[in-house]
Amino acid sequence: MQNFRKYDLKKIRSYDCPELHDSIYIGLKNEINSCMMCRGQFDYKNLQIDHIDSVNKENACEKNRKIIEHQNTILKRMYLGDVPEFCKGCYHLRVKNNDIPYQCSNKLKYISLCGAKTCNLKCKHCFFTQDNSGIENTDVIQIQKFIETFKRQGLLDSLKSIRLANGEPSIIKEDLALADFFIRNKIKAEIFSNGVVYQEVFAKGVNLDLFRVILSPDAGSREVYCKIKGRDFFEKTWRTIKQYEDSTNSNVEVKFIIEEGNYADVDNMISMCVKCGVRKVHLSMDVTIPESEFKKYVGPLNRFVELCRLNSIELLSIYSLVPAKLIKND
Ligand SMILES: C[S@@+](CC[C@H](N)C(=O)[O-])C[C@H]1O[C@@H](n2cnc3c(N)ncnc32)[C@H](O)[C@@H]1O
Repeated sequence: MQNFRKYDLKKIRSYDCPELHDSIYIGLKNEINSCMMCRGQFDYKNLQIDHIDSVNKENACEKNRKIIEHQNTILKRMYLGDVPEFCKGCYHLRVKNNDIPYQCSNKLKYISLCGAKTCNLKCKHCFFTQDNSGIENTDVIQIQKFIETFKRQGLLDSLKSIRLANGEPSIIKEDLALADFFIRNKIKAEIFSNGVVYQEVFAKGVNLDLFRVILSPDAGSREVYCKIKGRDFFEKTWRTIKQYEDSTNSNVEVKFIIEEGNYADVDNMISMCVKCGVRKVHLSMDVTIPESEFKKYVGPLNRFVELCRLNSIELLSIYSLVPAKLIKND
């Protein structure tokens, strides 16, 4: 896990990590970690901040301070060029342009939940399923208690979103309970799902303007789907996507991670989007692709952008490590 890319030692200047800005990640065994990539218990203990089970109404403010201080300390270190070992090579790391380190506000804006391994697919690119033998699913009851405690103490007044990318949330009953909890408590959430299984509660959250649902089919043809996802749910996934589109007035988002196995499938991807009424897409890229191979992805990425334009599909984000000058986006 980690160090997908070579860390360029010549670049020792000033760094930043947007993943740490006003955010925390609750993962394995309910640890509070610096970011979703960091599995403190396995990878880098210094980035492990605390444990949500130890949070109560008496110590919540102090714990909040500890979290913010921890993130600010790492951001300051990065700013000074002292990048923690674990972060070296991480695709979230940015060379910084500002002349002061980012200072987190005193209240969290994002909480990410990614500490589960239950999934109905075996995506080739997925870094969460590789090397996860020691992982235990997060304890949703404890997560609810943590969120309630922080909320009651006014510590989540600035919360913009809880990101639920826990294994496959649509098949984890605790995650569905969490989605209900978010709706009852009017908490905004971003839910990442592979789109195989439709969940009414996710569509309901979108219609209440509380949830963003981001579905990842990653393929436009059955052959490619089976090859990269490890299971044959192509038709089912696109039927589910259509069901979400129909039930939310086309307000869900569809994400494609371009990788070795699907970069030639771009035309089919957009055809399926058109067929199923998809209006909003994200173009992402497998972060484990080495820079030496970027060139072959430039054509397909350009084609994807062009097809979105031709079909009036809104491209919400382009996540790509291809140098910007190589991407024609006009
Ligand atoms: C592990 S998934 C869990 C949520 C859900 N099962 C899904 O498919 O979206 C969390 C997010 O990480 C992304 N992800 C996993 N491995 C990746 C990789 N190698 N490159 C880019 N994104 C990746 C997935 O696409 C997904 O949006």
